[in-house]
Amino acid sequence: MKSEMLSIILTAFILRFVVGGPLQQLFEPEAFSQPAPYIRDLKTGQLNFLHTTDTHGWLGSHLLQPNYNADWGDFVTFVSEFKEKQLNQDQDFLLIDTGDKHDGNGLSDATVPNGIETTKIFNEQDYDLLTLGNHELYTPENTLLEYYSTVLSPKFADKYISSNVEFVKKDGSKVAFGNKYRYFETKNTRARVLSFSFLFDFRRFNERAVVTPALEELKKPWFHDVTARYHEEFVDLILVFGHMPVTDVQNREINRLHDLLRRIYPNTVIQYFGGHSHIRDFVELDKKSTALQSGRFAETVGFLSIDNLTGGSPKFFRRYMDFSTRSFAHHLSMKHMPKTEKGLHVTSMIKRLRQELQLDAKLGSVPRTYYMSSKPLKSPENLYHLITHEVLPRLHSQFTNQSMSRFILMNTGAVRYDLFKGPFTQDTEFIVLPFSNEWLYLELPLRIASKVMNYLNKGPAIASLAPPQAAAASTKVPAVATKECPKIKEPNLTFGLTTADDYGCDGDDVPHNTLDDYELPNVVQSEELVSDDPDDIVHFVFYSFLKPHVLDAVNALTKAAKNHKQYDESDCKQYGGASTKKLLRDFIQQVN
Ligand SMILES: *[C@@H]1O[C@H](CO)[C@@H](O)[C@H](O)[C@H]1NC(C)=O
Ligand SMILES: *[C@@H]1O[C@H](CO)[C@@H](O)[C@H](O)[C@H]1NC(C)=O
Ligand SMILES: *[C@@H]1O[C@H](CO)[C@@H](O)[C@H](O)[C@H]1NC(C)=O
Ligand SMILES: [Zn+2]
Ligand SMILES: [Zn+2]
Repeated sequence: MKSEMLSIILTAFILRFVVGGPLQQLFEPEAFSQPAPYIRDLKTGQLNFLHTTDTHGWLGSHLLQPNYNADWGDFVTFVSEFKEKQLNQDQDFLLIDTGDKHDGNGLSDATVPNGIETTKIFNEQDYDLLTLGNHELYTPENTLLEYYSTVLSPKFADKYISSNVEFVKKDGSKVAFGNKYRYFETKNTRARVLSFSFLFDFRRFNERAVVTPALEELKKPWFHDVTARYHEEFVDLILVFGHMPVTDVQNREINRLHDLLRRIYPNTVIQYFGGHSHIRDFVELDKKSTALQSGRFAETVGFLSIDNLTGGSPKFFRRYMDFSTRSFAHHLSMKHMPKTEKGLHVTSMIKRLRQELQLDAKLGSVPRTYYMSSKPLKSPENLYHLITHEVLPRLHSQFTNQSMSRFILMNTGAVRYDLFKGPFTQDTEFIVLPFSNEWLYLELPLRIASKVMNYLNKGPAIASLAPPQAAAASTKVPAVATKECPKIKEPNLTFGLTTADDYGCDGDDVPHNTLDDYELPNVVQSEELVSDDPDDIVHFVFYSFLKPHVLDAVNALTKAAKNHKQYDESDCKQYGGASTKKLLRDFIQQVN
């Protein structure tokens, strides 16, 4: 058992040795140019919760987004000060995380295995309850890291819970991935809590783990034993936290879970904390049950309080705090963000790691901000517009033929984050476009080639079929059209989220100038047409990982024609040329 962990640590040590070196350029986060007009306060109650989820390695703050300028050290300081100064002896506090701790930022992803260093930094925070997400389960390395460094750490021995995930040991035997449940009394108010943690029905786990769908897991004897032992009269709160969206219109997994729990505990308050779909969300499941989801990428800390827990009509309060020193200071009733020794220590761990990994090494400058989904696809401020109009047309290989029309197709999931104005660094690449890709091409009549993109965009989501490497940290779940809020258009506010949830439009602590959210298609393409003759043969170039999807589309589109040709893998030829990641870097370097 130990030797597995040792090899992970050794790899990390070698990596640190190799990549260490002088820093090319350091830059400090911008200060807020304008003070926020106001910040909505928190309302504390008998039970108080702070919640993070889907941090994906973003422990070093968002250097180019003042709205989210706090780092993990500030967060550590905030939580310890909040507990000490903002709560009384008749109140309780729990800090919760619901998983997905890497894939998304250079701080975690520039190491091998990814997350080996950020796990140490993350675990400096004093979580009361924590669990894993699907991103801890794609590769054996990540699963081993999570199990040995966090599940088995003495600090989290009774705090790590996973009710439906098992770890597979080297000899093939299975053990619970942490505790299957936990029953405890809160420190001050002696509320009796029974807690569970469920990962959504995730299928693509590696061989070192097993995920059983929550609804199946609850049929097992252990669950019957626990609920029989902790009968309704011995429980004041059922606490279910896990990596599962709180709004799930397609599968309704959380709703089915709730129906089942409600049958066993008809009168008990049930509080959920969720994740995975990367949004701020709050749902009232019934009068005694709500569910909170706290965004993504260390942009949000969710706050929830419950009052009158045992009085028969509980009162819930929710707030989404910006992950900023401004918000943290405000909720500590202070003008400036305080510093604690521990917080400063964590900040210095982050600084050192950034330097060792050379994340701030500057490769170029981004002249303006390009958004993935906050601007329409056809807007020059849209990142896919930039890629399809300026970046992909730069693709060149020995097969490039200027006298032929060319399409270049990519899946939108390959891009993970907005590209912000400012320095373009190694970290930017990890954040925006981390993976290299290879190009294949088909020779197709224009009549067919011109229809492939629309065909693929009508089909099911491609991101969900992607291999782990391409499985972007962005996780689109169908939006809930029923929740809508008026857009805020105040030039004196910074751009950001305006969250609509079951309690209305006042959840965000800082009102933002609303950034829109346009739906993204599965794929986008660049088009270079030299003629519009439908019978002309064109080069149809695409990401190699899209091969099965493209072949499906092409064959479905040719089927209608008489004597149609059937296309197969042998028709997909290597195109060569640089990856989109390299093309973007070259483009940025040349626009300066
Ligand atoms: C923004 O500024 C205007 C003009 O100074 C002011 O009237 C308005 O109240 C401000 N908006 C907010 C949300 O404070
Ligand atoms: C708590 O619930 C009880 C029972 O419904 C109710 O009578 C009481 O007013 C509630 N207290 C508060 C502070 O809401
Ligand atoms: C480029 O395409 C044109 C038109 O199809 C063709 O005549 C020519 O041979 C091609 N050139 C090369 C180098 O393949
Ligand atoms: Zn996630
Ligand atoms: Zn996830």
